[in-house]
Amino acid sequence: MPPRTTTWPLEAHTKGKHMVLENYMGAWLPIMTRWNGLVLFIDAFAGPGEYSGGEEGSPVIALRALIDHRAKNQMRSEIRYIFIEKDRERYEHLKHVLRDLDSKLPSNCNYTVINSTFDKTLTDVLDKIEEQGAQLPPAFVMIDPFGVSDTSMRTIARILKNPKSEVYISFMSREINRFREHSNFENHLDELFGCTEWRQGMDLADSKERKDFFYGLYRSQLKKNGAQYVVHFELYEGEGVVYTIFFGTNSLEGCDKMKKAIWKAAPFGDFKFRGGQLGQLTLGESVLDFGLLEQALRKQFGTKGWQNIETVQNFVKSDAVNFHSDHLKSKTLKPMESSGKIEVERPPGKRRGFFTSGTRIRFL
Ligand SMILES: C[S@@+](CC[C@H](N)C(=O)[O-])C[C@H]1O[C@@H](n2cnc3c(N)ncnc32)[C@H](O)[C@@H]1O
Repeated sequence: MPPRTTTWPLEAHTKGKHMVLENYMGAWLPIMTRWNGLVLFIDAFAGPGEYSGGEEGSPVIALRALIDHRAKNQMRSEIRYIFIEKDRERYEHLKHVLRDLDSKLPSNCNYTVINSTFDKTLTDVLDKIEEQGAQLPPAFVMIDPFGVSDTSMRTIARILKNPKSEVYISFMSREINRFREHSNFENHLDELFGCTEWRQGMDLADSKERKDFFYGLYRSQLKKNGAQYVVHFELYEGEGVVYTIFFGTNSLEGCDKMKKAIWKAAPFGDFKFRGGQLGQLTLGESVLDFGLLEQALRKQFGTKGWQNIETVQNFVKSDAVNFHSDHLKSKTLKPMESSGKIEVERPPGKRRGFFTSGTRIRFL
């Protein structure tokens, strides 16, 4: 049951969602503000801004990512934060919490808090933009509901129609089964997935198979509705997944940056964040097996002859693998070259072990 109180205790798995958000915003802000006059951060299920133990909620985390950013003075564009919260008391609470940050915001940043729903607000904004024949400015849209009934694929598709928009969605796979009791649940799930095929997953007896089915369907629906790249990571409590975050973008760089943000919070590369086990973070990447990336590269390029380094890099940045671009050269290609698993052609004067522009590779 979702909490009824204005604030509620922070659960351990929620930290994963917040850590990845914070990591990603740190990378997103300087890139987006370099090329655009206006960028939007829309927190469409904003919550009250803090948890009952005083921990920061997503609106504060997103604003702090800017306030504490070491490059904030180089960010010239207008950065507009829009926070949408349906519940009146949480909305009031959020406004109150944000007031403390007012004096710390850079002059090119502003925020609006709206007491309404995700669907209505975004539909109004997108209708207006369409009437003007314009496009939504580059936007990161966080969609973080409690359940499965307020996040229609129709509205997400309209957001993704704008090429520089990205969505960060909490997908409540565990709720889908429980939701059967709810009156009208079929309509809600039709809206959530934007199709009727979810029915085929409902009766799969094996819970892993069922979960994989729903993930696969949600991912393919996000792709069909405008996201070129989709990555997801799971938030665990004990042995069970509580929910899953899906990120959709049209930017290869955005996809790579999101994977880096996830690795930082869940450093084993399994894209699972386990609440209450932050100690694992200190182990870092030293224990990792890059053989899996090697295998993926051989599978992708093994029969295709010579490849430019950029083609190989783009594959690693994409949603085809969980690894990201920092894992490619020194951690994977260099050892592959040393053990004779790749042939490498370099531009004149370039040294063995380095993979600069102009390098070509053949996977053996
Ligand atoms: C999971 S909480 C958000 C937590 C917040 N994003 C965070 O990480 O700190 C979901 C919030 O969405 C609000 N809400 C529920 N339905 C909504 C809707 N249709 N549109 C906007 N807000 C909604 C709830 O009142 C609740 O505060």
